Amino acid sequence: MSTVNAASVREHRTTIRSLARKKKKGERFSMLTAYDFTFARIFDSAGIDVLLVGDSLGNVVQGQDTTLPVTLDETLYHTRMVARGAARALVVADMPFGSYQVSAEEAVRAAIRLVKEGGAQAVKLEGGEDVAEAISRIAAAGIPVMGHVGLTPQSIHKMGGFRVQGRSEAGRRRVLADARAVQEAGAFAVVLEGMPAPLAAEITATLSIPTIGIGAGVDCDGQVLVMHDMLGLSDWTPSFVKQYADLGALASRAARAFAEEVADAKFPADEHTYR
Ligand code: KIV
Repeated sequence: MSTVNAASVREHRTTIRSLARKKKKGERFSMLTAYDFTFARIFDSAGIDVLLVGDSLGNVVQGQDTTLPVTLDETLYHTRMVARGAARALVVADMPFGSYQVSAEEAVRAAIRLVKEGGAQAVKLEGGEDVAEAISRIAAAGIPVMGHVGLTPQSIHKMGGFRVQGRSEAGRRRVLADARAVQEAGAFAVVLEGMPAPLAAEITATLSIPTIGIGAGVDCDGQVLVMHDMLGLSDWTPSFVKQYADLGALASRAARAFAEEVADAKFPADEHTYR
């Protein structure tokens, strides 16, 4: 990369400061999950601000029922690929279940690996008051931390399923307290997942750090979707997802056409053949 190009990438690169500025100015921003180089590059050049190497990779890449089996090494593997494809977007690596709950020390060690070996510029972890110490210790090590409150998929067994959180008054107060705890611990942003829109709006107005909603209404500072859901690559999508493309049907049609042409000896044609 020439010096001029390197300087312009630096200038336009999403940073935790540029996201904070967007919140101040009331400008919305976008985050998509990505798990490999190809999609990271496509989303990056399409202007997506933040790429999240989500532990949703357990579901959409590995075909698991939950995100719980995802390991730190698997997250590192995908983070490296995404980091290679992102010239502009902020790359955030999701800390997998078990990598930050045991002790703050283990959490810092795992976060350092994601930055040092994975090339992530920030990490994300789920929870509120319970993980405040881990957030502040990771942040103290110089690593930006994104929080994640409300519906937290790593706590599926505690929640008794994927349930919208904060519907009752006690629930509302708990989610709000978690969001405040995350901010006070030093997080630079927080994902608000699966909660009534008025609660997400209240949290967004209360916090000084940006909020990023998923199933949390339109009043958050940013929005995030799982790429397989928004591109039509999932078997099933929740009601809060908007499907922006139907890549699943497109890929299926292409594969069927290929299989037929192979069966009919129409592929490879002359132009695909070395003479
Ligand atoms: O793992 C993930 O994809 C996430 C998003 C849904 C926020 O945590």
